Amino acid sequence: MRKKVTVVGAGFVGSTAALKLAEKDIADIVLVDIQDGQAEGKALDLIEAAPLGRYDSSITGVTNDYSMAEGSDIVIITAGRPRKPGMTREDLLSVNMSIMSSVVREVAAAAPDSILIIVTNPLDVMCHLAFDISGFPKERVIGMAGVLDSTRFAVFIAMELDVSVENVHTIVMGGHGDTMVPLPRYTTVAGIPLTDFLPPERIKALVERTRNAGTEIVELLKTGSAYYASAYAIAEMTEVILRDKNKILPCTVYMEGEYGINNLFMGVPVKLGVKGVKEIIGLKLNDEEMKSLKVSADAVKRVVDNMENMLKANKR
Ligand code: NAI
Ligand code: 2OP
Repeated sequence: MRKKVTVVGAGFVGSTAALKLAEKDIADIVLVDIQDGQAEGKALDLIEAAPLGRYDSSITGVTNDYSMAEGSDIVIITAGRPRKPGMTREDLLSVNMSIMSSVVREVAAAAPDSILIIVTNPLDVMCHLAFDISGFPKERVIGMAGVLDSTRFAVFIAMELDVSVENVHTIVMGGHGDTMVPLPRYTTVAGIPLTDFLPPERIKALVERTRNAGTEIVELLKTGSAYYASAYAIAEMTEVILRDKNKILPCTVYMEGEYGINNLFMGVPVKLGVKGVKEIIGLKLNDEEMKSLKVSADAVKRVVDNMENMLKANKR
């Protein structure tokens, strides 16, 4: 039987992710959006591209109809507002909280055995909300951020060294925000440590550019945020899960004591397969790296606390 992937939110990220997935020809795709005609229109356009894109995936677009999501192996949630210049990801909390809550209720009812890939910002906190509302086991609620942040770091390194992007392997941990933790010590260029190629001040500049990469694009676009690299990152995670590849990727997952972090979603390297998160990989971080990870976890925790206070106030 063919695999099925539902993408909720047929905006820039959702529709581009659907295209990248269709090109992999690994699953039938359902696109859902709240805006009348949006998902249907994008789906039709994607279907009409199929002979040239050389894919046979069926692609269906629906407006707010979750019956089509039934039987999905994976549900990717991109529904929600993107940032505009001057905004932080946390500024999206209030509006995207209510969107995420209503979407996850529908998804959990229609596709109770699915794996959720959360994309909407503020990412780490939206994972927390999706986890609470869905009641899914922690292995099946996974946030997309680390794959995107790592590809950005890898590209900036490749540009600096004038080498192929395929030579660079790196990892970015932590929350998806200014406190994210790129790890130069775990970065290699053709298997050679990055630290053999660049002095500390150049590495520091590339780390800073990576932390600011989402904002750099928002400032240029002015009307929204990045989506091409995000779509590739979503498609990569989806393929790894559907093909049960056991590939290690940085993903945002629920921590229960790993790296000294408890009851919080954080970006860490994990082994991904058909059941979702198979294992959290424990790296031997040094004191400085551990300190940075703790700063990032504290920053995420503050936004989670904020969200929980808002939820309590709404209940009153
Ligand atoms: P967009 O505005 O192009 O698309 C969002 C779509 O969600 C719209 O089509 C809208 O109609 C739909 N939507 C809103 N409420 C909905 C609901 N209740 N049910 C179904 N659909 C609904 O925005 P874009 O650029 O696609 O970004 C989407 C989200 O992804 C934003 O929150 C953005 O910050 C986040 N993002 C996260 C990344 C990450 O690394 N985790 C990377 C890129 C974007
Ligand atoms: C980014 O980093 C929007 O969070 C997204 O580009």
